[in-house]
Amino acid sequence: MANFHGLTFCVHTFGCQMNKHDSERIAGMLEGLGALAVDTVEAADIVVFMTCCVREAADVRLYGQVASLKNVPLRAESPLAKRVVAVGGCIGQRDGEKLTDELSHLDVVFGTHNLGSLPALLEAAIEEGGHHVEVLDSSAGFPTELPTSREFTWTAWLPITIGCNNFCTYCIVPYVRGREKSRPLEDIEREARGYVEAGVKEITLLGQNVNSYGRDLYGAPRFVDVLDAVDATGIERLRFATSHPKDLTDAVIERFATLRSLQPALHLPVQSGSNRILDAMNRRYTREHYLGLVDKLRRACPDIALSTDIIVGFPGETEKDFEDTYRIVEEVGYNQVFTFIYSKREGTPAAKMVDDTPREVIQDRFDRLVDLVQKKAYEFNQVDVGRTVPVLVEGASKRDASILAGKSPKNQTVHAAVPQGLSAEDLAGSLVNVRIDEARTWYLSGEVV
Ligand code: SAH
Ligand code: SF4
Ligand code: F3S
Repeated sequence: MANFHGLTFCVHTFGCQMNKHDSERIAGMLEGLGALAVDTVEAADIVVFMTCCVREAADVRLYGQVASLKNVPLRAESPLAKRVVAVGGCIGQRDGEKLTDELSHLDVVFGTHNLGSLPALLEAAIEEGGHHVEVLDSSAGFPTELPTSREFTWTAWLPITIGCNNFCTYCIVPYVRGREKSRPLEDIEREARGYVEAGVKEITLLGQNVNSYGRDLYGAPRFVDVLDAVDATGIERLRFATSHPKDLTDAVIERFATLRSLQPALHLPVQSGSNRILDAMNRRYTREHYLGLVDKLRRACPDIALSTDIIVGFPGETEKDFEDTYRIVEEVGYNQVFTFIYSKREGTPAAKMVDDTPREVIQDRFDRLVDLVQKKAYEFNQVDVGRTVPVLVEGASKRDASILAGKSPKNQTVHAAVPQGLSAEDLAGSLVNVRIDEARTWYLSGEVV
């Protein structure tokens, strides 16, 4: 087994929670082998990039960032002659050797299916020099079998599925993450119980589409069984992401009314409000179906906070299609919307579609949508003024150490003055009640009571 005593490392993570979670596993493995985590590339003997290619911008940036590392000197005390640089995650999976061909000082490339190979690849690069590339077509096991090093001790991500079978026509994820695979319910329960015993307050179940959990397992357990099982461990707060609208069942919706730990917030990506575009995206639901789900959710849990993802400028999107999207945002009243301009991904079906909407037209639609999103988020937050909400404290706010920041049940950011005699760090990971005095677009603020 590799031994990295005396070496320092840093992991740079891009992309979604899956990648962030994989990075925790990488940090866990490297720490387990004696390496010390540091925050900057300057201080690191080993630099690992966990990459994302869901949109083009991230892609281009990665190549630039790896290239610029060449000019960063290695720390004077390093036992190595040269910094070891590794690229993993979705670009590693997609590009493999193309990366080392283009970036000659890159030492290691690995993919999304073989996190566990990283230590051996790093060791080979340190001992033998040269390029070490390993990308596999599918995963043998779950990365959850690897150790983990989590940034916060009170919250944990718990993957229940990996991969995706949906093949939305714009999306590269199924090509770089492989087919959907579910983790046995007993494993999920065991890990959740371990977290509860370790004092974790909040678990977020992860998958590209958690709603289709279990279809590939013996006995076909359903996602609602996972929710019930994890709730039964006694966890304080339970969340999950992401939910595909075509697979969100009535049983899951009902849990927002009945399950003690399930928090009143749901990320339900709509992508577009136009049935024509939804069809071209291969989303397999209509706006009517989606609005029906929203209705049921609000009936089960009137106060639920809904968030979503929207793509503007999908090939062939007309002003009429965009208006359908605009109206659905008005109608649903999301508290948060992640808006993206369509980005062509080579190898996906949408990349072959006629895409002739002028850039300025798409940008104008995007800007109009963002204005609406902000207005609706502001409105959504106003209902909490005067209420007292339990806040899971994350630490000090970024700008001011005397202000604590945390999350409400609806996943809103909440700010409040740190009570006298305490520090934000003391309170991190604990629940405090905050009376909300003011609601802004992106956060609430109030006083600890
Ligand atoms: N599995 C999740 C998340 C997938 S990626 C889901 O289905 O919701 C996160 C978001 O990136 C997507 O919801 C989509 O809005 C956006 N996205 C994916 N591919 C894109 C592309 N080619 N261009 C622009 N946005 C994209
Ligand atoms: Fe991509 Fe669609 Fe799968 Fe989400 S459900 S990861 S958008 S293919
Ligand atoms: Fe990006 Fe890969 Fe996640 S492409 S969005 S990091 S699955």
